[in-house]
Amino acid sequence: MTKTRITNPFKPSAGHLPPVLIGRDIILDDFQEGLDNGSGAPGRLMRITGARGTGKTVMLAEFRRMAEQQGWQTISETASAGMAQRLLEKLQPKKGNLSFSFEPSISVMSMGGSLGGVHYEKSRMPLTLRDAMSERLDALEKHDTGLLVTIDEAQAADRDDMVAIATTIQHLTSEDRNIAFVFAGLPSMTSKWLNDDVMTFLRRAQPERLGDVPLAEVSQAFTDTFAGTGMVLKDTPLDLATQATAGYPFMIQLVGYHIWRVAKRHHPQDASITVTVEDAEAGVRDALSRLGDTVHGPELDGLSPIDKTYLLAMAQDDGPSSTSTIAERMGKDARYASMYRMRLIEAQVIEERGYGKVDFAIPYLREYLREHAAYIRMTTGIVE
Ligand SMILES: Nc1ncnc2c1ncn2[C@@H]1O[C@H](COP(=O)(O)OP(=O)(O)O)[C@@H](O)[C@H]1O
Ligand SMILES: [Mg+2]
Repeated sequence: MTKTRITNPFKPSAGHLPPVLIGRDIILDDFQEGLDNGSGAPGRLMRITGARGTGKTVMLAEFRRMAEQQGWQTISETASAGMAQRLLEKLQPKKGNLSFSFEPSISVMSMGGSLGGVHYEKSRMPLTLRDAMSERLDALEKHDTGLLVTIDEAQAADRDDMVAIATTIQHLTSEDRNIAFVFAGLPSMTSKWLNDDVMTFLRRAQPERLGDVPLAEVSQAFTDTFAGTGMVLKDTPLDLATQATAGYPFMIQLVGYHIWRVAKRHHPQDASITVTVEDAEAGVRDALSRLGDTVHGPELDGLSPIDKTYLLAMAQDDGPSSTSTIAERMGKDARYASMYRMRLIEAQVIEERGYGKVDFAIPYLREYLREHAAYIRMTTGIVE
C-alpha cells in the first residue's frame, strides 16, 4: 500500500490563508452583518489596520470569499500608482469574458477613452470611475447581488487615486447601491488619510484593528491542526509552541510549520507522531530565525537611521523603556527623542506602556536588534 503524503498544513507566507483563521470571529461577523443588512450598514465600509503579519491581506481574501459565496462580484486592488485606473480597467469587461452584458456609457466614451486601455484624464477619473461602477452595479443588482471592492496596502495609495475612490464611494452610498468597500493598511494609513478633508468617508468607515490573538485560541488551533494530520501536540510541547507565538498571527504559522516539519523529520517511521519537547524547541528556533528574515529585517529596512538608533537604545532594556533614559542614551534632548518615538508608535513598531514608557510592539524585535546590533549600526552608518 502506498502511503499518502500528508503536507504541512501551516502557511507561513504573506497573504496565504491559514488552516484556521484564529481569533477573528468578531470582525468576520461584522462583515457578514454588513452584507446581510444592506446598503448603509456599518460593515459595508471598513478600514482594517494592523502591523505587518497580523493578517490584513488574509482578512480581505476571506471577505471576498464570503461575498462570492453570496453571489457577489469582487474586485481586489493593492494600492500603488495608477490604482484608480486599474480599478476602472477591471470594471470594463473584456470581449468574450462577459458575465454580465455591459455597454460603455456615453460619459465614458465622450472622455476620449476607448475600452482598449486608454488612460483617462486624471481630473475626470472620479467621474469615470463612478460611472463604470454604477454600470456594473446596474447589472449586478438585477440579479440581487452586489460588488465588493477591497484595497490592500492603502497606506501607500496616491492621493489622486484615493480622491477618485472617495468620490465614487460617496455617490454610490448616497444612492444606496449594493456595494461594499474594505480598505486595509498599516496603522500609518489612519494618520495619512484621516486628516485629509477629502477623506471624510474614511473617517466614517468602521475601524477594525487587528491585534494579537488570545493564546488560548492559539493553543486550541495548534491542537486541532496537528491532530488533523495525525500528530499529537499537547502538554509541555504545546505550551512551548503557544507561548512562542506571542499571539502574533505570522508567528503562529511559522511556529506551527517548523514544529510540524521537525517532528516529521525526527520520527520518520512512526505511524502516529507525538511531538516531543526537543521537537518543539527546535521548531521554535527555526521559526524565530525565519521571523527575523521576513519581518524584522524588512521592518527595519523601512526605517530611518535615527529610528533605528532609538530602537537600539530601547533594546538595551529587558522590558519597557523609560523615554527619558532613551533620550539620554541617544545623547539627545527629550523633545528630539519624542519626535522619533511618535513616528515609531505611528508605524506600530513600538507602543506606549503607561506614562513615559514604551515597549516593542513587534514580538522578538528586541532579541533581533540585540543579535544584529553591530550589523545594523554598520549598515546605517550609525556612530555613537
Ligand atoms: N487569524 C489568523 N490566524 C492564524 N494565522 C493567520 C491569521 N491571520 C493571518 N495569519 C497568517 O499570518 C501570516 C500573515 O498574514 P497576512 O494576511 O499576509 O498579514 P498582513 O497582510 O497583515 O501583513 C500568513 O502566513 C497568514 O497565514
Ligand atoms: Mg498584507
